[in-house]
Amino acid sequence: MATPTPKATLDRNPDKFLTRTVHDLISLEGRTIVITGGGRGLGLALAFAVAEVGGNVAIIDVLDKPHDHFKKLQEEFDVKVKLYNDVTNFPVLEKIFADIVADFGRIDGLVTAAGICPDEPFLQRGAESVARTMNINVLGTYYAAQLAAAQMAKQEPTDFNPRGGSIVFIASIAAHVASKGQTTSDYCASKGAVMSLAKALGVELASIGVRVNSISPGYMLTDMTIDLCDKHPWLADIMTNEPPMRRIGDRMDLKVPVVYLLSDASAYHTSDDILITGGIHAGRLL
Ligand SMILES: NC(=O)c1ccc[n+]([C@@H]2O[C@H](COP(=O)([O-])OP(=O)(O)OC[C@H]3O[C@@H](n4cnc5c(N)ncnc54)[C@H](O)[C@@H]3O)[C@@H](O)[C@H]2O)c1
Repeated sequence: MATPTPKATLDRNPDKFLTRTVHDLISLEGRTIVITGGGRGLGLALAFAVAEVGGNVAIIDVLDKPHDHFKKLQEEFDVKVKLYNDVTNFPVLEKIFADIVADFGRIDGLVTAAGICPDEPFLQRGAESVARTMNINVLGTYYAAQLAAAQMAKQEPTDFNPRGGSIVFIASIAAHVASKGQTTSDYCASKGAVMSLAKALGVELASIGVRVNSISPGYMLTDMTIDLCDKHPWLADIMTNEPPMRRIGDRMDLKVPVVYLLSDASAYHTSDDILITGGIHAGRLL
């Protein structure tokens, strides 16, 4: 069991807010952020967000070939970017994290965006298919967090990161309410597990300076969502018209919230889930 931080006395300096600007607080300069599932989709957009505020990016993805925008990420920013391949198997993931530390020198943040979302009625789900979802969505998140936190706990302090790090899980609105127009029981259960894991780890790892939070996006526009809506046109209507804001989410809507959670701007923020849904967690229009 992690030893809790010893009891502290009240910090009596009320003027610390004068020492760092918002610009300083949001910067990830010098830091290395690992992003699982960053070969395309939400994870790739979040890799751009990290690079835009000066962070180095190590992406882990099973894709043989990442989205074309990956090349742009590599070429257009003055930060280090590298792609690694994952098969959601602990020994392989352990080796990848060791390679990342060898290549980048350290790990200051983790974003877990790798995930799958099969659509099959509950009574027809086979055990292997359910296990695959849990393996990628839950265990992949669990092991990546464990490996990242172990590195954060033991690495040397630097000017840009004196201690610990920040972990951000991509959960989902599906952790909060059932999906409409889709039968995704295992996906909903897996995202509930991811959200609970962030709460538990935020408490357990606070003593080593590691913060853990999740973000629950609503419907977000990606190449995959467009394909899905082309195949099932009623989903396009649900995703556009159900949110009170009457639009599907854009990956841009997640860039600043994720940078906020990774950076010192959120230094007192842990064990939380941030819903970014255009309002559907509160009420649906359709
Ligand atoms: N798109 C949405 O509307 C939406 C909404 C809420 C939550 N999410 C969550 O956001 C995350 C990203 O979703 P997306 O829409 O970008 O999907 P996506 O399919 O475009 O991206 C997921 C990425 O994860 C990778 N991946 C899958 N299994 C992997 C593994 N074992 N190891 C490493 N990488 C693996 C895929 O190759 C892919 O590049 C998922 O966890 C998803 O559940 C998406």
